[in-house]
Amino acid sequence: MRVPMYVLEREYLQNREAYLSLFDEVCRSAQFADGSFVRRFEEAFGAYLGGRRVSAVNSGTDALFLALKAFGIGPGDEVIVPSATFTATAAAVCMTGATPVFADCEPDTWELDPAQVRLLLTSGTKAVLGVHLYGNLFDTAALKKLTEDAGIPLIEDCAQASGAEENGVKAGCFGDAACFSFYPTKNLGAFGEGGAVASPLPEIVETINSLKKHARTPEGDHTVPGYNMRMDGIQGAVLTQKLGTLEPFVRRKNEIADRYLAALNGNPLLVPQKTRPGVRHAYHLFVLKTDDRGRFRRYMEERGIETGVPYPVPCHLQTVFAAYLPRTGALPVTEALFSRCVSIPSHPLLTDAEILYVSEALAGYRG
Ligand SMILES: Cc1ncc(COP(=O)(O)O)c(C=O)c1O
Repeated sequence: MRVPMYVLEREYLQNREAYLSLFDEVCRSAQFADGSFVRRFEEAFGAYLGGRRVSAVNSGTDALFLALKAFGIGPGDEVIVPSATFTATAAAVCMTGATPVFADCEPDTWELDPAQVRLLLTSGTKAVLGVHLYGNLFDTAALKKLTEDAGIPLIEDCAQASGAEENGVKAGCFGDAACFSFYPTKNLGAFGEGGAVASPLPEIVETINSLKKHARTPEGDHTVPGYNMRMDGIQGAVLTQKLGTLEPFVRRKNEIADRYLAALNGNPLLVPQKTRPGVRHAYHLFVLKTDDRGRFRRYMEERGIETGVPYPVPCHLQTVFAAYLPRTGALPVTEALFSRCVSIPSHPLLTDAEILYVSEALAGYRG
């Protein structure tokens, strides 16, 4: 048997007729860029997030950049980010002209460590941009308290966390703004690029609504340089449709994770990510930490099971960020994680037979 990491085409093929009629509807209405299908998605996603206001944009990277801009962050400002993330988190800070300050993560949850953030706060810190890595949640209460005390916004990078929850509260509802990616492999994936910012602050969403459409005033003037970061109509229509299956998808992902955890049975050679009590992981990725990653990947490959290395190099060791070396020197927890982490197939449309096959391989791993 061969088990791939992603089986995105299965979802399309299962719902092909519905998608084809949706494409037809969008094309006949000619609402190609922004427009009514995108408005509908913004409303639906806002309702899903318990009434937050939402601005749909063209990617998760755009969402991060626009959220930072909306909070007025720019040259001379510092933004604390985890190094354990995809480079887009820190790149978005650089795009505003601000400086990313890299913090280490917690050893068990692999999420941004509030104690490390506290050490890095200065009068120049203008925001904390936390990442819900792999679909787990960072310590929302601790980081909220810390940012509130400092009088700065907490921005959630929810690119990997659509569908995660803590005591029934959805990822994206803990900070002053939350940025989502709808890249096709994400839990809520578009048929191309997509992203969104959600916020309880109307002025932040209004600023983003303006900036993403060239910052044109109603009178036709432009007082600041704007951007073209709108969502396409097709993506708005697809995402509204897919939002209806996000919850069963995430439940299925948790079912798959439970089967893998049972198969691992505490094997110390393959360490899973810990969640805090009350957290429902969204499992964008099911990731294991293993000392001999090469050996484990070869073992899986011999059985026809695809694996991945989410991000082989932490941000603070990336050439692009060499100018922003961590104030604390090394970030040992992040470095230990990124040299050992490996993801295994966990797509919700993998069959029970495929999940059983992967589970049996996990159960048989002896190093
Ligand atoms: C944590 C994180 N932040 C931001 C992004 C950027 O999202 P996009 O690819 O939609 O620009 C990603 C995408 O993979 C991500 O994983």
